[in-house]
Parts: sequence; structure tokens; C-alpha cells
Amino acid sequence: MKTKEIFQLAINKGIEADFREKEGVERFLKRKREKYEKLSEKEKEEFDLESLENPYLDSRILHIAEDKEIKKVLVGIDIEPAEILLAKEIGGIDLIIAHHPLGKGLAHLPDVMDLQCDVLNYYGVPINIAEGLMKERISEVARGLNAINHQRTVDTAKILGISLMNSHTPCNNLAAKFLKDLIKKEKDNLIRLENLLNLLKEIPEYKEAMKIGAGPKIFVGEPERKCGKIAITEITGGTEGSPKLYEKMATAGIGTIIGMHISEEHKKEAEAANINVVIAGHISSDSLGMNLFLDELEKRDIEIIPCSGLIRISRIS
Ligand SMILES: [Fe+2]
Repeated sequence: MKTKEIFQLAINKGIEADFREKEGVERFLKRKREKYEKLSEKEKEEFDLESLENPYLDSRILHIAEDKEIKKVLVGIDIEPAEILLAKEIGGIDLIIAHHPLGKGLAHLPDVMDLQCDVLNYYGVPINIAEGLMKERISEVARGLNAINHQRTVDTAKILGISLMNSHTPCNNLAAKFLKDLIKKEKDNLIRLENLLNLLKEIPEYKEAMKIGAGPKIFVGEPERKCGKIAITEITGGTEGSPKLYEKMATAGIGTIIGMHISEEHKKEAEAANINVVIAGHISSDSLGMNLFLDELEKRDIEIIPCSGLIRISRIS
């Protein structure tokens, strides 16, 4: 497989696991094409054409140094110039795969946040409320990312002649789908938060994170509290949503949320809304999603070297 095929595989896996399902993703892309057609010639020149095909603009091919068969990849959660130097030092690395967005993927992170509206709607929050509250939050995230030095790592990869791509939301979709299916399968046994916590602790990535003190934890609620309806609203969709959503989630009948991480402001709002929050863990959840994609590469005989926090667990038997 070459870099473009690996990247397309990540996108396809992300679509398969998407809360919106294939039809919903196609509608999202169709709407972008319709908007593009209406642009003036000048506006079309400025338009990012990749957005007509790729529903996850936080995930990109950032540099192809040599368009060759990929046999060995260095994969990490955060790739910075240090990891590019590491690849050079190891030698024989055909491609680096990052999880967190880099370069123009990072600049376009807010674009994937619309997905959260559909996830919230899936769990019963009216779409108008989800869209209204997310609109404000998406523009806040966009302003925050504006000041970042987006290209630093990409520039290092270019100078050292190393191919680089990242897969963020496609992999987070895989992690969310994995957890959603597990919760559905085990729902009769998930009465109290302690049951949910114990279930998460059985997942190898979280079990490994527990060894360094970063395992699943209850951030809001008590072990003996009942879970109620469990929602996976904070695993995929770019980054944290609006703190004003917790009250709306409670009204929609959600009792417990499983998230990767939570800020203090969001935690306080969840508490005020009496929503339980179980934090599975950030890097371990990122690893879970990456692993489900990396298994596809392993099946194709690509050697994977994990770095930068990635807890590599293979599910290929
Ligand atoms: Fe992450």
C-alpha cells in the first residue's frame, strides 16, 4: 500500500463507524459540493477542494516524500519534530502516522465538530438545540486554533524527507463505535457506575493505562449511582462541545456520559445537570481508535512501531 491508499483506508473505516452512517456522511459531502458550485470563480480558487471528498478535514496527508510501498510505519498520538527526528534515527521508516491533527488538518479541526450535533441528536437532543449551541462553540475553537504554529512539524518532515499523515476523527469514530457496541451488548449488566467502570477496565488499552495511573475514572457521580441511559457523546467530533449542552442532555434523558477527557468548566455544568461523567482516559481512548485502524495495516503486513503515548494492542488473532 502507498500513503494515499493507507489514508483512504482510514477515511473509509471512519465512515463505516460514523454515527451519521454512510448515507449521513454522503449527505454532508453533497451539501459541500452544492455550496461549492454556488461560489464565484475567485472564491473557488480559495476553496479547499479536498473538502469535497474527505468528510474529516482534521485528517490529512501532510507530506509525501517518496511515493513508494509502505512497509514500516512510526505511529504516535502526538507527532512533533522530536518524533520526526526519532524516525530518522530509527531509519527505514516509510511513513509517520499521527493521531492528533497537524498542519492544515489542525487548522480545519472545527470542520468536524458538526458531527457532534448528529451524535447528540442520535441520543435524543433536538437537532436545533445541538446546532444552536455548537455553532457558538465551533467558532470559539476556530479562533483559538488560529494563533497556532500549524506547520512546525510538517516543515520538519519536509526538511528531513519523511512522509507524514494523520488520522483523527476517523479513528475517534472507531473508538466511539467500539464503545457504543460494547455498551449495547452489556447494557443489562450496566446498572451502576461501578459496573460501567469495571467494564471499561477490561478493555486492554485502559487496563494498560491503569498501570501508569491514567485508567478510567468517575469524574461526576458515585460508584453506587445508577447509570441510566449511557451516551458516547464525547469520544468523537473534534474536541469538547458546548458546556451548555449538559442541561439539554439531561432533558433528553441521558444519565451518564462516557468521555475521553473533561475540562473543569464542563465538569461543573455536568454536575449541575446531575449527569454522571465517566472519563475513560484520553491517550488510551485515542490508542483504542488508532489500534482498530492499525490492525488493518497489520493485516496487510505493514510493520508498526508505536511511539508518543500510543498503547499498541493488536486485535488480530
Ligand atoms: Fe485526543
